[in-house]
Amino acid sequence: MYKISFINYFKRKSGISKIYITINFFHLLLFTAIYICKTGFDAYAQELKDSTDLNAALFGTNFKWGAACASYQVEGAWNIDGKGPSIWDNFTQKKRKIHNHENGDIATDFYHRYKEDIALLKDMGFGVFRFSISWSRIFPEGTGKINLKGVEFYHHVIDECLSAGIEPWITLYHWDLPQALEEKGGWTNREIISWFNDYVSFCTKEYGDKVKNWMVMNEPAAFVGLGYMLGYHAPGKKGPYKFLKATHHACLAMAEGGRMIRKNIPDANIGSTFSCSQIDPYRNDPKYRYKDMGAVKRMNALLNRLYVEPSLGLGYPVDALPALKRIKRYFEPGDEDRLKFKFDFIGLQNYFRVVTKKSLFTPFLWAKQISAEQRGVQMNEMKFEVYPEGMYNIIKQFSKYDIDNIIITENGACFKDSVENNRVHDPKRINFFERYLEQILKAKNEGAPVNGYFVWSLTDNFEWSEGYDPRFGLIHVDFKTQKRIIKDSGHWFQSFLSDKENK
Ligand code: NOJ
Repeated sequence: MYKISFINYFKRKSGISKIYITINFFHLLLFTAIYICKTGFDAYAQELKDSTDLNAALFGTNFKWGAACASYQVEGAWNIDGKGPSIWDNFTQKKRKIHNHENGDIATDFYHRYKEDIALLKDMGFGVFRFSISWSRIFPEGTGKINLKGVEFYHHVIDECLSAGIEPWITLYHWDLPQALEEKGGWTNREIISWFNDYVSFCTKEYGDKVKNWMVMNEPAAFVGLGYMLGYHAPGKKGPYKFLKATHHACLAMAEGGRMIRKNIPDANIGSTFSCSQIDPYRNDPKYRYKDMGAVKRMNALLNRLYVEPSLGLGYPVDALPALKRIKRYFEPGDEDRLKFKFDFIGLQNYFRVVTKKSLFTPFLWAKQISAEQRGVQMNEMKFEVYPEGMYNIIKQFSKYDIDNIIITENGACFKDSVENNRVHDPKRINFFERYLEQILKAKNEGAPVNGYFVWSLTDNFEWSEGYDPRFGLIHVDFKTQKRIIKDSGHWFQSFLSDKENK
């Protein structure tokens, strides 16, 4: 567009020969500018990275490097082109649920800006993009009628990735359940297994020719625990029985979802992602240690084992957390088998360590968490402890299962960022990545089957009940203008990843 009007302008003004001179001059200027920027950009990225010997080549040539995002956190366009409302559209309208009463109505406007974001991802040297599909953009009412514009949108995103040489990795459920289904009980209604299966079936038939890497769910422990037990997240439900019911249905739907992908895309690489944390006792004094070790065992069952073990054929970890026995009342004949599915990879998402002590004030769990703030340790803006060794230990813990392939599907940190002269200096985030990646490499070198790493997140975005304050992105977003700036950490990755090809 720009070039055509430029040519026409000169044609009208000054005749043909002058056009060529001007075009050549224009091109010369343009190429010089690009060259200067590119050289400056590369040198700057190199300078940021020179502080460490760490580079992508050390992880091997087949290691996947990507960045991730999720539909509700970035897309915006909440009611555009036929999309139906999700539980997050509804929840964010309620009073006192979200910091500053913010919402994802516009978010980072990924719906209209996906091309720019994918181009920036490519600029930084990543080869993989993880994003999720909004169920209610495809099925506005959760089941039945299909919204063709929504279907088309994800084709565009996928095609953009493919033409940029980026591998699309799709998450089918990253927490934005269609509101219409929540009105029928959401994850507490057993029918959700078949609603979800129909949605998975549609998406995999529709996109399966182009997309081979699929994740069924994102962090069931988080969306069930926060959404159906504690009420902090959508749909804001509370109580142990809702929690157990939703847990069982989510685990069944996850395994059934895996089977459906396998049926529709026989050569797919299928996974699901799990939040996980190293868990330590608070007190080391022998008088209390054994009590706190009991708390560790129960916390570990709840936070690390509950959602992954049924798929591995190990059932629910009732041995460590007896309160889980009550989940049996939601079982139907055949469920034990239906819970199993052999995933091709397990996605691990590690953000913090949990330190716990025995407590009589927490029914069922009898354990409470001692926050990073109380312990006075290094934290990010969401008060998550920065504890890189926790990444190593959790990889080792999961490596003991019968798992062939582990992908770190999310890891990252939110720190306060500020823009100065069009740059965002974020040394704490760079330091975070260096230290966490060192621990992953250590685990890998000791034989853990870790084969990929995704930064959370590609861009700053809507951080659920925390609103827009916590910034996790490699790309800074000005939420008023939607202007994007690659942060220093993004430049750091650019250099870190370019070493992959040099070695
Ligand atoms: C994990 C979730 O998958 C993601 O949506 C969230 O933004 C990050 N944790 C950071 O809290």
